[in-house]
Amino acid sequence: MHFSKNIEKINMSKTAEVADLALSLKEQGHKIINMATGELSFKPALSVRKEACRTINKGETLYTQVAGLKELRDLISTKLKKDLKIEYKCDEIIVSNGGKQVIYNALQSTINRGDEVIIISPYWVSYPEIIKLCGGKPKVLNTTRGEGFSINTEKLEKLITSKTKWIILNSPNNPTGVVYSPETIKKLVLVLKKYPDIWILSDDIYEKLNFSTETNLSILHIDEKLKERSLVVNGFSKGYCMTGWRLGYGAGPKILIEAMKKIQSQSTSAANTIAQNAAIKALELDNSHFIAIKASLLKRRAIVISALSDLECFDSNFSKGAFYLFPSIKRFLGKRLNGKEVILNDTNFCMQLLSSEHVATVPGSSFGSKDSIRISYALSEKDLRTGCKRIKQFCERLI
Ligand SMILES: Cc1ncc(COP(=O)(O)O)c(C=O)c1O
Repeated sequence: MHFSKNIEKINMSKTAEVADLALSLKEQGHKIINMATGELSFKPALSVRKEACRTINKGETLYTQVAGLKELRDLISTKLKKDLKIEYKCDEIIVSNGGKQVIYNALQSTINRGDEVIIISPYWVSYPEIIKLCGGKPKVLNTTRGEGFSINTEKLEKLITSKTKWIILNSPNNPTGVVYSPETIKKLVLVLKKYPDIWILSDDIYEKLNFSTETNLSILHIDEKLKERSLVVNGFSKGYCMTGWRLGYGAGPKILIEAMKKIQSQSTSAANTIAQNAAIKALELDNSHFIAIKASLLKRRAIVISALSDLECFDSNFSKGAFYLFPSIKRFLGKRLNGKEVILNDTNFCMQLLSSEHVATVPGSSFGSKDSIRISYALSEKDLRTGCKRIKQFCERLI
């Protein structure tokens, strides 16, 4: 069997690799503290779970329209009007099997071989791989710890060429937790306005998990005309704690949504009907749901920051959203674990931490930014305390 050229270019998700190793250690009977996870430990709201059961029991489980239930898309439209102040008609919205499929559909339906897509590092692991899978070329704008992982628009502009098709933005960001400031967003809009042929993908999946005191500003708040060439990606995985339900949505110009629908109709068809019905209830939740989740996450974040603060390197003040911290582990590189194995890089650090202390984290290099690790604080407070204690023990054994 000869595999396609495209498949040879892409890698298995690194976060999935760490999660797989953690699971196999668990199967061997070890208590793993999984700080590599990209999902909250909370259950979805009761009304959501009840609606899923009702849908099953009533047998309301036939296929839906490819783009999703009209009632759900209408509610998404109302949500977007409220949060983004933009009017999206029902046919400007597509519901898919997770935000990931929305992104895949968008890139697959627009990228020609050699087209470039600008992504900002540290980036979500799947962006470069999806771009390559679609025949495109990721062009990476590196942001630094010194810049608070914010976007330098001058550097961004230098990456733009006649082949640039898309720019992908993600705030709150995975893996850094950074929320772009209003100044950054305004500067970004100024640059984007200069290049009317470039499409913008705004990945807002962590929108509901923003702890920043500044408003959650989108490029669309600054200039609603950008709607004509933007795709807003969002979903139910993060803020609604519905990762395994596989439900996300995209909102953009009808012409783009139609193209994405074609791909979806010939690959997976509509997202699953049970999750779609349940998501209607999710959209009916009031703000108190998110306030409670955010309060709990802030508490968890404080636990990790205070437990690891005396590790010096642990500067994660830039993290203002999602549920990740992205500390540097640079000062541990070149050290030996118990005077034996040398820690050569971030992957080495994570693998040794996992095999010796049974704490799973993700190496920064999977996000295009070496010498750091991603720590998720989406787990229970008890597990977080144990995890931090083990990380400290591990670092103390590096000499
Ligand atoms: C930045 C980012 N975008 C999109 C997704 C896709 O989420 P889902 O496919 O579960 O909706 C994730 C998931 O981890 C993510 O971190």
